[in-house]
Amino acid sequence: MSLKNKHILLGITGGIAAYKCAHLVRLLIKQGALVKVVMTKSAEGFVTAKTLSVLSKSEVVTDFFDTNNNWNNHVALAEWADAMIIAPLTANTLAKFATGICDNIVTACYLSARSKVFVAPTMDLDMYQHPTTANNLEVLKKNHTFIIPAESGELASGLVGEGRMAEPENIIAFVSHYFENDLPLIGKKVLVNAGPTYEAIDPVRFIGNRSSGKMGVAIADEFAKAGADVTLVLGPSHQKPTEQSVNVIKVESAQEMFTACNAAFATSDVVILSAAVADYKPKEISDLKIKKKEGDLTLDLIKTTDILETLGKQKKHQVLAGFALETNNLIDYAKEKISKKNLDFIVANSATETGSGFGVDTNKITIIDKHNKLYNFELKSKQEVAKDIVHFAINYLKTHE
Ligand code: CTP
Repeated sequence: MSLKNKHILLGITGGIAAYKCAHLVRLLIKQGALVKVVMTKSAEGFVTAKTLSVLSKSEVVTDFFDTNNNWNNHVALAEWADAMIIAPLTANTLAKFATGICDNIVTACYLSARSKVFVAPTMDLDMYQHPTTANNLEVLKKNHTFIIPAESGELASGLVGEGRMAEPENIIAFVSHYFENDLPLIGKKVLVNAGPTYEAIDPVRFIGNRSSGKMGVAIADEFAKAGADVTLVLGPSHQKPTEQSVNVIKVESAQEMFTACNAAFATSDVVILSAAVADYKPKEISDLKIKKKEGDLTLDLIKTTDILETLGKQKKHQVLAGFALETNNLIDYAKEKISKKNLDFIVANSATETGSGFGVDTNKITIIDKHNKLYNFELKSKQEVAKDIVHFAINYLKTHE
């Protein structure tokens, strides 16, 4: 289990154990996590922002404003995070967290956090045992903050006992444990295609369609968030996945899309083809721009390869799903496509219903499985729809493995 691709926001406060954060950051990066560091002024007395910036490969934020008086957006930082770790957590910051005091960048990020928050307290023996500390830790627990227990050993004061910050390795093990259930697709390979295809007529013209690629890109992102190793074959689209781990292969024509999907298919576990692939392409592509002449122009069109159908014929262990975008007879046409293309399930959506289909940010889908069972979903944002689809695929995998 690792923290690969997880966004970790590390908040450092001013305890002697802050020096261990250099090692903690190194371990996080080694696991493939993306790390950003925020630290209090007093933490800077124990470890430098420069060291942490080099190790985390990211700028370290120490104040609400940087040296050029630009505002450091703590809300955006907190939103970016999949997990926030506060290590070390001093008695002072613990008391601030417990009461909502917000007087530095670390406390501001804590209050803004939407992700899981983990704290690794550190203090001297008597401070750690003080009832106030215990009470404050209880408040944090009630507020859904996870406490990484302090460890026993020699303390900075010379006293021996509980109060040492958990070792970086133990912090990572603790945090990883909480992610395990969130990453059901770790080790799985997923192939998604998205967007339109452009079929060239001549060097300046093409036949295309209105697909934006939003739905498929959102699906790729959600699979990556579930821990999968995702390849996204993307037609001409301005959309980009937000998850950096997604391997994007840009293509233009149906033939290029087929070649890329075909190459990735054998090693994939789950394949979701959402692209609006052209069904026909010009029989010939003119090398030169076609000039306007008297009278009309007729283009001869030939069929493209049906990517989904071809992969359906090769299907072995893969869970294979497609989309059906229809203007009429949605469910019947979608059911036909399940058997024709040898699918495990199909995502049916209407091209004409308000809020569905191309170009909009929302979608309303029905998933139909190969036994013709229907699962209806409400109108939602494409990101939320993507979550439903990924959730469906995860359950499908669980029951069909
Ligand atoms: N598809 C594909 N290759 C094609 C055409 C379609 O892989 N050349 C896939 C799409 O990505 C989608 C599914 O097939 O997942 C259904 O596409 P759709 O356009 O709805 O259906 P078609 O099979 O093209 O049939 P029709 O256009 O007549 O509805």
